[in-house]
Amino acid sequence: MLRAHMCVSALCRLSDTFVLQWVSICRNIACLQSAVGPVRWKTSCSPAPFLTATPTRALIDEPITLEGHYLPPHSPITVRACMHNEDGDLWEALSHYNTDGRGVVNMTTDVSVGGSYVGCEPMGLFWALQPAPGEREGLRLRKKNVETPYSVQLSLLEGHIPVLPSEGSNKEQWQRGEPELASVTVERWYMAPGVRRVEIRQNGVVGTLFLPPGPGPFPAMVDLWGMGGGLIEYRSALFASRGFASLSLAYIGHKDLPGPLNTINVGDAYFQAAFQFLQDHPQVCGDRLGVIGLSFGAYLALRIATQIGVNPRCVIGVNGPIGSINKLSDSDGKTESFEGDQKHWSYDEQGYVSFKEVSTPNNIPPENKAKVENLCCPLLYIVGEDDLSCAAIENADEIEKKLKGAGRSHLFTCLSYLGAGHLIEPPYTPNARNSMWTTRPKKLITLWGGHLAPHAAAQEDAWKRTLEFMERHLRG
Ligand SMILES: *[C@@H]1O[C@H](CO)[C@@H](O)[C@H](O)[C@H]1NC(C)=O
Repeated sequence: MLRAHMCVSALCRLSDTFVLQWVSICRNIACLQSAVGPVRWKTSCSPAPFLTATPTRALIDEPITLEGHYLPPHSPITVRACMHNEDGDLWEALSHYNTDGRGVVNMTTDVSVGGSYVGCEPMGLFWALQPAPGEREGLRLRKKNVETPYSVQLSLLEGHIPVLPSEGSNKEQWQRGEPELASVTVERWYMAPGVRRVEIRQNGVVGTLFLPPGPGPFPAMVDLWGMGGGLIEYRSALFASRGFASLSLAYIGHKDLPGPLNTINVGDAYFQAAFQFLQDHPQVCGDRLGVIGLSFGAYLALRIATQIGVNPRCVIGVNGPIGSINKLSDSDGKTESFEGDQKHWSYDEQGYVSFKEVSTPNNIPPENKAKVENLCCPLLYIVGEDDLSCAAIENADEIEKKLKGAGRSHLFTCLSYLGAGHLIEPPYTPNARNSMWTTRPKKLITLWGGHLAPHAAAQEDAWKRTLEFMERHLRG
């Protein structure tokens, strides 16, 4: 036997074409050989399992089909997703499946029996990503550079590998030494090919405009985020990938705005200028503008739609208040301090802060509330019922009451999701139940609320309905 093996391996080395012809014989012999003597080359009789992802490059809101093939039948298998965010922190999700009689796992139809989530959740490995054991506390997954994708590595591992809690484990304890059976890498994009990203610093406006491919003109959105500030681009990039121009607009916490960073120093004139900019843009349909805001941005969206003389065609608010405890700047952009807020901050047993009381309608002076009774366009208001950062349910009720009083209930659509938190974002991205709010003057973690699976379901449904709403009122 040993002689036969040496003889064939010598033949294999003769020429490349010969190797191709003889490779299967070599392998068969190698296989027999392994029982009786040393194998001289790395080989195996059966092909390795493989994992497929379809598509491997996709927008973040597109579902992916994952299938594992050529696995042992009726066997426990772990599917692992891992990726690094832009700051180098590792995120991970694991799910436990059992292969069928053909040795196949199909994440579109099969049920996860354990790990980061259970049940049939085709996109569970994406929305269940959490910081890996030993990573920094208070992380929240947010894309900063939308011109690059998230690169997620998916792999198949043997057996059911337990999930360690991200907190309370260190990196040394956590060593995934399990052999990887198969892997595939997928790219998750916010910006579709051909979408253009244009930085805007014009007439005081600080924003980023995303334009869909092609000449246009396109309907457009003004996109506002919360008091965390800065210029958040990923939702606008995705809107443009879905055929809407979208202007991410900074209003607090950006170096190019009038200072200081931690107060709002722009007023109505600023938002008017942003609308004017879109109206004048040759690739935008000037009379088909909408506005969306999350958290404090939802209040601004309501205010913009009712009080500053721009007439958007539709408004979308996500978990935001009807008004602000602090009086907003006047039209010239007068600085207002937000320190008065703090008497309404509350803390849980871990010392994490909640801003819920800050946004409770009863705590907001009537004169600081948006005049929603003057609303003239459809409003979609999205509520996470487990929102720990904004009294979203109470605000939805208040908005509805005001519209009803003005005979305008027909303009109001409310979507309310059980178990969803404050940060209802584009789908298939993981919820952060809490995250670092600030490190200065001292470390402060804030509560957002929401439980992984119901929050993910809410994001998926809310995003679909958001796009439908925009389609109907901006393009229809
Ligand atoms: C996985 O499930 C999808 C959806 O039912 C189906 O189209 C596909 O053929 C399945 N793949 C395999 C290998 O069974």
